[in-house]
Amino acid sequence: MSSTQAYAITAEAVAAEAERAGGDYSKVDVSKTLVLDDLQLREMGPKDVKLKVLAVSAEHNIEHAALADTVNIAQSRGGKIYPGNSAVGEVIEVGSEVLDFAPGDVVLTHCNGEPDEFGYPLRIWAYDKPDSIGWYSREAVVGAWQLVKAPLSSGLSLWEIAALPLRAPTAYHLYRRALGIYRLKVSREHKSVLNVLSFGGGVGELFLMLAQAEGHKAFFCAGSAERRQALEERGIVGIDQRAFNRFKEPADIKAFNKEVKRLTDGEGMHLVCDMLRGPVFEAGLAVSARCGVNVSAGWQLSQQVSYNSTIMSVKQVTIDHTHYETVVGCGAATELYGSVFKPTIHKEIYSFADLPRCFQEMHENTQTGIPIVRVAEEMPDSVKNLL
Ligand SMILES: NC(=O)c1ccc[n+]([C@@H]2O[C@H](COP(=O)([O-])OP(=O)(O)OC[C@H]3O[C@@H](n4cnc5c(N)ncnc54)[C@H](OP(=O)(O)O)[C@@H]3O)[C@@H](O)[C@H]2O)c1
Repeated sequence: MSSTQAYAITAEAVAAEAERAGGDYSKVDVSKTLVLDDLQLREMGPKDVKLKVLAVSAEHNIEHAALADTVNIAQSRGGKIYPGNSAVGEVIEVGSEVLDFAPGDVVLTHCNGEPDEFGYPLRIWAYDKPDSIGWYSREAVVGAWQLVKAPLSSGLSLWEIAALPLRAPTAYHLYRRALGIYRLKVSREHKSVLNVLSFGGGVGELFLMLAQAEGHKAFFCAGSAERRQALEERGIVGIDQRAFNRFKEPADIKAFNKEVKRLTDGEGMHLVCDMLRGPVFEAGLAVSARCGVNVSAGWQLSQQVSYNSTIMSVKQVTIDHTHYETVVGCGAATELYGSVFKPTIHKEIYSFADLPRCFQEMHENTQTGIPIVRVAEEMPDSVKNLL
């Protein structure tokens, strides 16, 4: 067995930080809950692959783990988790039965930890999958089934590729579900071009890139001016969420609805992606077009939603809940790197030592794009032109 350096979140650190912050999530210093640890890697089995981790993306579920605002995942997993469910790595060793990968290959990890009978995840790797070890580490041992070859010729930089393994499959799944449901109700014969809205965040941005690539009209409602501008440069219409007071009062939602009606010639949004819930949920429903679909795989601001069932029935609106993609779907989403998915990256590429600060800045919502951490100091020749 070999050992490596890996970040851990302990229930003890989460409790200590919650106590120091007096139960106020906004005062929690997320960086204090992430500690660099010595991790014993498991023995390689015949179907396993050993990776040198090159770069990782910061994912929002680490904030949920550090705040324990949805479930106290570190506690329920026995007091400690090794987080990190999105990585780009170089294969350095393969088990005797591994045929699809060889040393030197650059690969992505997906985080579908346990597919159900239809391929959808019952558990997420490095989150609620028991005994799963995440990839905020120098090295990792994974099953070959957890890997997808990295599309190094996609035109994306290594950092842009590193932004996508978790967010792109999620957006892909949300989009194919939302569109599929809408098309069950309204055929292309009746309506060709749809109005598609998403709220802030990396997943939402990618959802809109899929819609735009198919010729639909895409609208991005976010607070971050930098992120709105990045999408506007690609022809996606920006709507400043702060101009509507982040939907705190009914009057804010009314004003937002009026603006959406103006932007869409009175039609409203046919597809809405809402990964945030909380006040965003009501705003997303209010601007739904007839037969619209509101889709989500997130609960960043709230786990609970309520709505007027009568109004949604009369408008024929569908509210759909998804989770991460199937393993096959992760492969399909990866085919779209560079041609459709062109992620916006935060201006700083964090060092491995600065990973805790990266998460605190994510918590403070000050990043200008998807945050990336460089793990390997020495990169393989195959990616040197992508740095
Ligand atoms: N189930 C799954 O498979 C899955 C997969 C990926 C993500 N998720 C979940 O989905 C959520 C979003 O993920 P992501 O990766 O897209 O997040 P992200 O890239 O970290 O973006 C989060 C966004 O939230 C917005 N935000 C922050 N505070 C807000 C507030 N008070 N009101 C409204 N918006 C606020 C910010 O946008 P602005 O400030 O610009 O508005 C920010 O860009 C997270 O909860 C994550 O855990 C679930």
